[in-house]
Amino acid sequence: MKIIYHGHAAFSLITGDFHLIIDPFLNGNPSAKIKAEDVHPSHILLTHGHSDHLGDALELAAANQALIIAPTELANWCAAKGVQSHGMYMGRMKFPFGCCLMVPAFHGSSIKDNGQTLYGGLACGYVLELEGKIIYHAGDTGIFGDMANLSRRAKIDCALLPIGGNYTMDPIDALAAAKMIGAALTIPMHYNTFPIIRQDPHAFVDRLGKQGLAGQVLEPEKSIEL
Ligand code: NI
Ligand code: MN
Repeated sequence: MKIIYHGHAAFSLITGDFHLIIDPFLNGNPSAKIKAEDVHPSHILLTHGHSDHLGDALELAAANQALIIAPTELANWCAAKGVQSHGMYMGRMKFPFGCCLMVPAFHGSSIKDNGQTLYGGLACGYVLELEGKIIYHAGDTGIFGDMANLSRRAKIDCALLPIGGNYTMDPIDALAAAKMIGAALTIPMHYNTFPIIRQDPHAFVDRLGKQGLAGQVLEPEKSIEL
């Protein structure tokens, strides 16, 4: 399985048969190197409705007949816009690509729609099981103690953690989170897209290393194989 970072919180997870994209903020994302027209997902996973996560989800879903998976209120809003969606909450669901466990994230969720701000339900993260690998995308969140339980079903192979601060964990909290999660590999996200979330991801990865944890900075459009 291949994990591609698109910048901010956007990642593609590519298996033999499926292309999942999480939080597809591409057009208008200052750190993205590709356009929404260049990706062809089969599934689009949304952690919440903020514009830097919802991104190009509707356009991508329509252009690729891709299924949007999201917290129920956000999924219902997407469906009302005419695309396929699957609403869920903090539970586990089997999909053709594998298993999807929605997990909490301490954050808000609203949707900007024609000048109005709509309630988006709860924000979330995802623990995904694809081709026998377990990937945790934390979404936007502060640190919380139950991160220690995320690997209770299976050890997490790769954790994608926000480090930008202000809206989410900063590098100090993300380091403590990474220790609780105990993933085989931790990749930082949600930094340097905007001045308010400026951080040094390499310093974060160095600190992970000093704690005996593997980390890797992925530049936009770089990928790893799991
Ligand atoms: Ni947000
Ligand atoms: Mn965000």
